Amino acid sequence: MEIIIQPTPEAGSIIAARIIARLVRENPDSVLGLATGATPVATYRELIRMHREEGLDFSRVTTFNLDEYVGLPLEHPQSYHTFMDEHLFRHINVPRGRIHIPDGMAADIPAECARFEAAIRAVGGIDLQLLGIGANGHIGFNEPASSLASRTRIKTLTAQSRADNARHFDNDLAKVPMHCITMGVGTIMDCRQVLLLAFGENKADVIAEACEGAISAMNPATILQMHPVAKFVLDEAAGAKLRRRDYYRYVWENKPEWQRL
Ligand code: PGA
Repeated sequence: MEIIIQPTPEAGSIIAARIIARLVRENPDSVLGLATGATPVATYRELIRMHREEGLDFSRVTTFNLDEYVGLPLEHPQSYHTFMDEHLFRHINVPRGRIHIPDGMAADIPAECARFEAAIRAVGGIDLQLLGIGANGHIGFNEPASSLASRTRIKTLTAQSRADNARHFDNDLAKVPMHCITMGVGTIMDCRQVLLLAFGENKADVIAEACEGAISAMNPATILQMHPVAKFVLDEAAGAKLRRRDYYRYVWENKPEWQRL
């Protein structure tokens, strides 16, 4: 695990965008796993700037999103299809046909989940998966007690996740979907690199547990300790409860030149 603590969310987002941009420049056919939520928005903003001002080219990139609500039409303002279009896709040149987001309106949900997994396999797997983290440790919508070997499937959102997201649904809990399709923990662990972002003091406890606690399905993010290439990009507030934060800073400051971004 590499834990990168930056002074602000903005600085962390620029680091995250540079990690993604380096991958895309080195391999224009990269397969990116993308995330929704408030956390990655500034990273997407920086990628859009790099596309416009520095010619960062997404024309051969393929994308897979982590999750989608069940039962929201794709064009619903709070669907993750809409979110991705507004915050990234409409501003860059990734071809529509290379974008994959689970279809929460599918008539046959298990078949849709199997189709999604097959699509990931068909392109040779995901090179880098961007992740946020829920205050309860969820990655994607793999809520606590999710199998650490799970694949893409339907999940029931916890009351906490629904309450956290009610702000996007006019603060009306009744409007927040009960179910989602999410990439599984096992699916995420198969990605060649994972890049988890967490900003703000409300993530400090869960980050301390995810990075330094015991591996447990009660906090699915803890399994990332077993991933060979997992990077956590944090701001000071999200990293504030890490016992070894001075060591993580020391590692970052003393990186060999060739590893610098
Ligand atoms: P947030 O969500 O980025 O809106 O905090 C993160 C998550 O639930 O994974």
